[in-house]
Amino acid sequence: MKRKRIAILTGGGDCPGINAVIRAVAKKAMLEKEMEVIGIEDGYHGIVNPRWRSLEYEDVSGILTLGGTILGTSKTVNPYRYAVRKGNRLEFKNLSEITVKNLKSLNIESLVCIGGDGTLGIAYRLFKDGVPIVGVPKTIDNDLRGTDITFGFDSAVSIATGGIDRIHTTAESLHRIMIVEVMGHTAGWIALYSGVAGGGDIILIPEIPYDIHRIAEKVKERNKKGKRFSIVVIAEGAKPEGGDIVIQRFVKESSDPIRLGGIGFILGEQIERITGLETRTVVMGHLLRGGSPTPFDRILATNLGAKTVDLIEDKNFGCMVGIKENSLVVVPLKEVAKGPKLIPLNHPMIKAARSLGTCFGD
Ligand code: F6P
Repeated sequence: MKRKRIAILTGGGDCPGINAVIRAVAKKAMLEKEMEVIGIEDGYHGIVNPRWRSLEYEDVSGILTLGGTILGTSKTVNPYRYAVRKGNRLEFKNLSEITVKNLKSLNIESLVCIGGDGTLGIAYRLFKDGVPIVGVPKTIDNDLRGTDITFGFDSAVSIATGGIDRIHTTAESLHRIMIVEVMGHTAGWIALYSGVAGGGDIILIPEIPYDIHRIAEKVKERNKKGKRFSIVVIAEGAKPEGGDIVIQRFVKESSDPIRLGGIGFILGEQIERITGLETRTVVMGHLLRGGSPTPFDRILATNLGAKTVDLIEDKNFGCMVGIKENSLVVVPLKEVAKGPKLIPLNHPMIKAARSLGTCFGD
């Protein structure tokens, strides 16, 4: 009998735990379901311009703790808006037909797309165009709808918290205001969680626009009480009341071309000018995406990966596996494609932090 075949791709930014998902999907598919597993290289790139390879057991064994993705990934390839360079100009083409054709030539039962909102948004379109797809929620930002948590987030929070801990000692010794800028795109999840875990005095998130004078007041108030340093944790997407986010670069090829970063430096200058206190800014940036996943992310990735194979077996396509109230759930990709999941303003962690005197800049 011919063995059933599945393919896996990883799209968007890398993050700790991707290899753990690849391992879980591939091992269960091979061992329990006797399926063949194909690895697509560099996300949607490897389908538009066919580049894939057969994954053997040895390829997926020993990768649980490995950061990054053994398949490679891409943040700029969208089959529905494929960028082609013509001299200095970029032209966009719809290559979805060839993409679907290439996928069909693989004779797969299903394509497993491990990705964030960009990758899963494209996956939803491919599903509507006839490709059997199952999604797995990946992003350090934790901003995906349909799931309470994405794998990669806990690892990023852990790295950010470690950074804040180290910043604390230098801030305290030199009596400085230290600003730690963390990723998170348009959502403040990483800033909120690492800010609370690291004991940030001021936490600034995109969901709550800040007033610079309120921040300066808080810093001065702490100084008066003898706390001659302050830690500000700011999300890259944070913005002042009535102001704008800071765009660091524009990646034209990307379907989500805006790259954020730099708000921490602007805030630092303003705080120093208003309070007269010495201020420094540290940008954690891509450090948050590197290295080995935390135990929590390894477990989450393993559970999500194993469940993905059940969905394939049940022919439950056009869906993503997710977590709701600590249980595995199946969510339609349509739900996921509705835009980012921001922090609700009544989030219990905001409430708890406020009750302890943490300032959110409002
Ligand atoms: O979505 C993950 C993420 O790391 C965001 O937190 C950040 O805004 C963005 O990707 C950075 O993108 P790039 O890797 O293209 O610089």
